[in-house]
Amino acid sequence: MARINDSYLKLQAGYLFPEIGRRVKAFSDANPEAKVIRLGIGDVTRPLAPAVLKAFHEGVDDLAKSDTFHGYGPEQGYDWLSQIIIDKSYKPLGVDLKISEVFISDGSKCDCANILDIFDLGNKVAICDPVYPVYNDTNVMIGRTGAANQQGYYEGIHYMPCTGANDFTPEIPKEKVDVIYLCYPNNPTGAVATREVLKQWVDYARANDAVILFDAAYEAFITEPAIPHSIYEVEGARECAIEFRSFSKTAGFTGVRCGLVIVPEELTGTTADGKSYSFNKLWNRRQTTKFNGVSYPVQKAAAAVYSDEGWPQVRETIDYYMANARIIREGLTAAGISCYGGVNAPYIWLETPDRISSWDFFDKLLNECHVVGTPGSGFGHSGEGYFRLSAFGDKKNVETAVQRIKDKWGK
Ligand code: MLT
Repeated sequence: MARINDSYLKLQAGYLFPEIGRRVKAFSDANPEAKVIRLGIGDVTRPLAPAVLKAFHEGVDDLAKSDTFHGYGPEQGYDWLSQIIIDKSYKPLGVDLKISEVFISDGSKCDCANILDIFDLGNKVAICDPVYPVYNDTNVMIGRTGAANQQGYYEGIHYMPCTGANDFTPEIPKEKVDVIYLCYPNNPTGAVATREVLKQWVDYARANDAVILFDAAYEAFITEPAIPHSIYEVEGARECAIEFRSFSKTAGFTGVRCGLVIVPEELTGTTADGKSYSFNKLWNRRQTTKFNGVSYPVQKAAAAVYSDEGWPQVRETIDYYMANARIIREGLTAAGISCYGGVNAPYIWLETPDRISSWDFFDKLLNECHVVGTPGSGFGHSGEGYFRLSAFGDKKNVETAVQRIKDKWGK
């Protein structure tokens, strides 16, 4: 009989969002008349921008004619898309990139998981707590960890608690770690990192030959001008950081699927015999073997996000979601609930009323207010007593959800 990958058996629970979906379905089946408002998973609800949709259609039409037909594309993505991203999204930040450093993908979730292929299992990995569960679970799946303890911490991972006590800012490790996951603006807490904070991480990584895996999936939601959108805005980051970006939340591509990874050419690691080797070359080798690129119409649609017509339309939708974030943050704060985030991120991270457990609050909110959120403890031990609400809903629904919570818990 073939042996299974036993590492999967170390995982503590099912993936968070399907578990939430299961509970919501059970509730809805039992209460078909309840109008459930979903502010749980960060899934977009607004349609694609008209210019994006037009380009998407044109991309499909191109496939209908032999002279514009496209088969396999480059595994790294089409150069024209990489160049638009460089010109429109990185150059304005003062960041210069080469096309060979941009890898178009089918989304950040896969990228954050797949990147582990090019790192040795012996690397010490540092992860924030609470955290986007993919970083943690994929390290377990690949066999980097031992078993989980009572708090859900896996042996071998360096966890960095982020709570109200440290302003949701992880402490720079005192010991040497090799790989550090950072997500800014943060999912789930909505916290941001200033340039000074990112500089401290870059300094640490360079001093310790570590690599930062910087997840910038929510950079488009930054509203405060001083907050960096890319880790490469910090000097020295090209030598120590890989950055992930996504069209999912930025442009409503959660169902369309498109993201990107930046792997600078200066970024190197060491081989078993102590020689230096390029991570860019490794990632290129990985992608050309395991990935066949993102479909042509999707890349056409992604390019239109940054077109003169598309970007203002895309921004309008981002602003719509951020207006929802304000409604949630201000509404709940006025009701006496402590809220964080929601200023530079589409997530509001709140303290559960009377600090009841995150899952108890989830169940109460679902059963008594018919509102779905995400329990903070689902993102890690330090998320216990917190709760995440997503701003990706319809404005009227968001207003109704806030009113229901105020009516129930308002002081
Ligand atoms: C979330 O709700 O945290 C995200 O939508 C999950 C994801 O992007 O995979």
